[in-house]
Formats: sequence, C-alpha cells, structure tokens
Amino acid sequence: MARIMSGVQPTGNLHIGNYLGALVNWVRMQQQFDAFYCIVDLHALTQRPEPLALQRAVREVAIGVLASGVDPERATLFVQSHVPQHSELGWILTCMTQLGDLNRMTQFKDKSAAQPENINAGLFTYPILQTADIVLYRADRVPVGEDQEQHLELARETVRRFNGIYGETFPEPQVVRSEAPRVMGLDGETKMSKSRNNEIGLFETADETMAKLRAAKTDPARLRKSDKGTPEVCNIFKYHGFFTGQAQRDEIAAGCRSATLGCVDCKKMLAANLEQVKGPIRERGAALRADPARLDEILAAGAAKARAEAEKTMALVRSRIGLRAP
Ligand code: TYM
Repeated sequence: MARIMSGVQPTGNLHIGNYLGALVNWVRMQQQFDAFYCIVDLHALTQRPEPLALQRAVREVAIGVLASGVDPERATLFVQSHVPQHSELGWILTCMTQLGDLNRMTQFKDKSAAQPENINAGLFTYPILQTADIVLYRADRVPVGEDQEQHLELARETVRRFNGIYGETFPEPQVVRSEAPRVMGLDGETKMSKSRNNEIGLFETADETMAKLRAAKTDPARLRKSDKGTPEVCNIFKYHGFFTGQAQRDEIAAGCRSATLGCVDCKKMLAANLEQVKGPIRERGAALRADPARLDEILAAGAAKARAEAEKTMALVRSRIGLRAP
C-alpha cells in the first residue's frame, strides 16, 4: 500500500480552511493509503507557545482531527515530539539543504513579519523539519493546502540531493491538492489562518458562526438589500460553493442578481449548511474531550507505530551516511 503523510500545527483551533484544504483528504485517503498524520508540536515551538497552552493545543487539535473523521484504526495519528527520529533526521537534512533554497521560502518572510520580536532560526529552517517529517515515513504523497506547496518543492529538492549523493533512499513526495486548496478568510482578502483572526472555527456553535458571518464582507458594490449583486465576486457565495448543493446555489445566485435575496438571508443559509458539517464534528469532539484516557491511548499507539517505522528509515539513513557500519 502506498504511503501518505501529513501534519498540522497545534496553534489555535482548527478552522474550515484546514478542514477543506487538508483534513477532507486525510479522511478520504486513509481508505486507500497507509496514512501517517502528525500533530507537529516541534514546529509550533517556533512561535514560543506557553507550555500549558501547547499541551492543551496538541490535545485539541488531535480531537479536531479525530472528530473530522480520521480513524485511528486505519491511520496512524501521533504527536511529532513522541518520535525523536524527526529531530535526528531534521539535523541530517539540515546539512543537505542549501541556504539559497531556504532563502526562497515565502512563509519565512510572512512568519517573520508576524513576530518581528522573535525571528528565531527555527522559523528559517522549519521547512527542513517538515521534509524530515515526510521522508521519515518514506511517503510519496502529501495532502496539504496550497500554502505548503513551496515547502514540498524544497522537500523534493532535498530528496534528490540526498538520493544523488547516497543512493536511492527516499521517494520524491508529491502534493495532493483538495478541491479547496486556498480557502479565504472572513475578511475576503487573505487566506483563512489561525493567526489572522479571520477564521470560521470547526468547533464553533451555529450562533458563534452566524455572529461572525453577520460582520463578514460581501459584494462591496451591494450596499442596500435593493441593490443587485454579483455572486461571483462575493466571498460568502464562495463558501456556499463548499457547503451548499447546486440547486440551492443556483437559487441564491438568482436571488442575489435580482435583489430578491438579501445578504443576511444568504448568510443564514450558509450558517445552516455549515452547521450540517460542523454539528456532528462538534458532537464527536465533545465525546472525545470527555474521555481523555481514550485520547492518550490513541496517541500512544500512534507514536509506537510511528517510532517503529521511523527507526527502520533511520537505520538505513545512518548506515548510508556513515554514522554506522553499512
Ligand atoms: P498548518 O498547521 O498551517 O495547516 C494544516 C493544513 O491546513 C492547510 N490549510 C489550508 N488549506 C486551505 N485553505 C486555507 N486557508 C488553509 N490554511 C491551512 C495547510 O495547507 C495544511 O495542509 N507546515 C505545515 C504542517 C506540517 C506538515 C508537515 C504538513 C509540518 N510537517 C509534513 C505536511 C507534511 C503547517 O504549518 O500546516
């Protein structure tokens, strides 16, 4: 069975960008692939989280992943720091990665701008650890949103260099895109993101979501309900594309163009359809939260399986590069 690997940071709560851009594929692909899914707490250290907050976030994100439908009987779900081989391979690949390649990473610029008081070296070398996460499991496919594609290009470059020097060791990992690789935030201007405060949280109640939607931007040319709108330019209508069936979408588009459907009603319809997806996720999340021992078990079993696989790869890597006898 072919291998896939993907990761999510335990920073803030999961949002519908994570869900549509990555988790939908995590759930779908666990059926046909040997899947390794990782809560990347070592990556989160680049933001220097408060220790207890990091602990909580790891658990909450694990709960979000499971509540979204990742099945621990099928997929291996684990926490990055429970598998020390990630750090070991991270260092080895640091010595394989060229500064010039790292310098091109646009996320480094965005992340440095977001925390100018703490531009640590981890922010810069972050994509190398991400490469280690993937190749440690010798995964050939990686379901991620568009914002990770540049990191995957770098991963392929590093794999080619390693294989070229030491012989074929890792497959070149390919991106698997979802149907929504870049979900925009409620501001309609930037991608939905935990740090930008423009997100629809996966665990939000219907009322919380509706309160956010009320304030969300729509077609800027439609000032009054009696103005005719252009659904194609409206961010809310784009969300309908992910959560609303074709027939209702046609109805909404026609109502918007003829000014017979107001923006608030359009938002209420979206909130109701979103709730169809979020409601069951919220319920499963509450059940998981009520049984912390079960979550500990799932993560311990996942880590044991991940460590065994990681150790196989590391044994090969150590001998290839001369850290052990061949
Ligand atoms: P992170 O935690 O920022 O996001 C987790 C996943 O959600 C996707 N995503 C989005 N997709 C569409 N629209 C959006 N607005 C949106 N926001 C987030 C991300 O693309 C990602 O797939 N560096 C990674 C974590 C990571 C990783 C890995 C991923 C570490 N190691 C190995 C894959 C393989 C990150 O920060 O994702």
